[in-house]
Amino acid sequence: MAKHIGLDLGQATVKIYYKGKGIVLREPTVIAYDTVNGEVIAAGRQAYKMHGRTPRGKEAVRPLKNGVIDSYSDASELLLSFYKALGVKSTFSGPKLALGIPWGVSEVERNAFENVCLEAGAKSVTHLICQPMAAAVGAGINVLKAKGNLVCDIGGGKTQTAVISYRGVLHASKAPLGGQDLDSAIVAYIRNTYNVLIGDLTAEFLKKSIGSAHPAFDRGSVKVYGRDIVTGRGAEITISSGQVREAMSDCLEKISDSIRSTLENMPPRIASDIFEGGLLLCGGTSLLPGIEKLLSDSIGIEAKKAARPLDCIANGIGKIIDSSGELTEIVSSQEQTN
Ligand SMILES: Nc1ncnc2c1ncn2[C@@H]1O[C@H](COP(=O)(O)OP(=O)(O)OP(=O)(O)O)[C@@H](O)[C@H]1O
Ligand SMILES: [Mg+2]
Repeated sequence: MAKHIGLDLGQATVKIYYKGKGIVLREPTVIAYDTVNGEVIAAGRQAYKMHGRTPRGKEAVRPLKNGVIDSYSDASELLLSFYKALGVKSTFSGPKLALGIPWGVSEVERNAFENVCLEAGAKSVTHLICQPMAAAVGAGINVLKAKGNLVCDIGGGKTQTAVISYRGVLHASKAPLGGQDLDSAIVAYIRNTYNVLIGDLTAEFLKKSIGSAHPAFDRGSVKVYGRDIVTGRGAEITISSGQVREAMSDCLEKISDSIRSTLENMPPRIASDIFEGGLLLCGGTSLLPGIEKLLSDSIGIEAKKAARPLDCIANGIGKIIDSSGELTEIVSSQEQTN
């Protein structure tokens, strides 16, 4: 019998939920090739380590950009590697799949998500689930209740904010900004301040190890290595938590603006629920220390992190495929509203 899995194909991380078992795979959305013969040499974590530092003849690429599929063939090769690693794809059959779809994508982009999974060998796509709804379910919100909830998923390449009430997304928005834009802002800051070029992975390391969104969360300093743009030689620099925060500040402000504009346009009848319930944050970027405080101050509504924010969407898809009742129904109501 075909295995049933739930897939959250994110721009930074792929998460796979195995029906009845929970999340069985969390891997970077990166694939690496031998450029001479075109063969896949690594997928996920191994390929991520090569990103930006591949030797001649090898190339590591990210198949998603701006929250949608950028390279169909790279995305499909990556998924095929994961299906194989999980043992859910044999010569004769592939997995049945429930798939999270970002909010507000065009029909073409939505079809690309679906087709890429089929192309990689999935037997069928059983559910297309709007990601903010999956995030709410995964974060433990009872979406079958007639109460308004505000959820914001800040991922690697996008921020999705949604007001969810009684099985449906009442109102939502998406901004093409996430953790990878914070990384790029750190690269630009260090280049402009020190004339030193660092790679994306070093920037991500800085963000995760000493980055914060609010001055109340100072996290010391670390040494990193890059290349001096003027001399071409290796350079060692010490970067402080405050500098990382300064580098990220414009991008964080834009993320908070996008959440605020969703609130400004929300249906007034739901406002009291939202003020009472606050803003629930999920997605990997919500792990940035101080982001709740920054957002609470900026939008005037208390923001709090979901438990295991990186896993909310995959867990929500999983809960939907594990349940056989009402929760499954919300999937079809989503397709109408998105
Ligand atoms: N501790 C942390 N502090 C700050 N950022 C973090 C932390 N852990 C992970 N991240 C960031 O979270 C992002 C990945 O989050 P997530 O997996 O939710 O994104 P995604 O689903 O792949 O992207 P998208 O939803 O935009 O397609 C990355 O940019 C990563 O650097
Ligand atoms: Mg995501």
